[in-house]
Amino acid sequence: MIRVAVAGAAGRMGQAVCAAVEGAPDMELIGRADPLLGVTIEEVLPQAEVVVDFTTPDTALANALACLRAGVHVVIGTTGFDVTQLEGDHGANAIVAPNFAIGAILMMRFAAEAAKHMEKAEIVELHHDRKLDAPSGTAKRTAALMATAAGGAEPPIHSVRLPGLVAHQEVILGDVGQTLTIRHDTTGRESFMPGVLLAVRRVGGLEHSPVIGLESLLS
Ligand SMILES: NC(=O)c1ccc[n+]([C@@H]2O[C@H](COP(=O)([O-])OP(=O)(O)OC[C@H]3O[C@@H](n4cnc5c(N)ncnc54)[C@H](O)[C@@H]3O)[C@@H](O)[C@H]2O)c1
Repeated sequence: MIRVAVAGAAGRMGQAVCAAVEGAPDMELIGRADPLLGVTIEEVLPQAEVVVDFTTPDTALANALACLRAGVHVVIGTTGFDVTQLEGDHGANAIVAPNFAIGAILMMRFAAEAAKHMEKAEIVELHHDRKLDAPSGTAKRTAALMATAAGGAEPPIHSVRLPGLVAHQEVILGDVGQTLTIRHDTTGRESFMPGVLLAVRRVGGLEHSPVIGLESLLS
C-alpha cells in the first residue's frame, strides 16, 4: 500500500483526489492537509510516502520543497509557479503536470504534430472564473511543445475566465485557405484522477526528477 497525503484536500481538486485515493486498492489516504481543515503539510509528512499537491500558485513550491526535504515524493498538479526551483538532488522525486487528463495530453501531442505542418497557430484557453493563474499551465505547456516541435516561436495564448466553464482549450492552426482546430473539454474533475493515480504509483521509481508532464510517463 502506498501511503498518500493530499495537500489542498478541501479544494475542488483535492476533494476529488482524496476520493480517488480512497478508492484505489493499492493506496491508503493517511492525511488531508489544508488550512481550511486546520492541518498543515508538516503534520502529514511523517506518515506519508507520496504527497499530492493541488493548492495555490503561491504555496505549491514551498509545499513541494518541504516534501522533498523530508524524503517524501510529491505529485504536483498546481499550476502557475516556477518548476525550475524543483531541480537538484533532493533525495525524493517530483512529478509536475499541468494537466492529468488523457484527452488533454493527446490534444498537446496532436497540436505539436500539426504545428510542424501549418504556418501559424493561436491557443484559446477557457476556465472557470475562480482559477487564479492565467494563462493556464496547460496552454503554456502546449505552446512550449508546439514551438519545440516546429522549431519556431511559441503561439500566442488567449485566456477566457467565465462562470459555467470547467477547463477547455482550443488550438487553432491556420494556413493558406484552411484552418485546423483541435479542442479539448474537461466536463468533470474525475477526468484527472487516472493520471493522478498513475503519477502516485510511478513517482517513487523515477530515473530523474523532476518529471514535467504526464506524457513523460505514458510514452
Ligand atoms: N494538473 C491538473 O490536471 C489540474 C487540474 C485542475 C486544476 N489544477 C490546478 O490545481 C490547483 C487547485 O485547483 P482547485 O480548483 O482545486 O483550487 P481550490 O481553490 O478549490 O483549492 C485549493 C485548496 O488549497 C488549499 N491551500 C492553500 N494553501 C495551502 C497550503 N499551504 N497547504 C495545503 N493546502 C493549501 C486551499 O485552502 C484550498 O482548499 C490550481 O492551481 C489549478 O490550476 C490542475
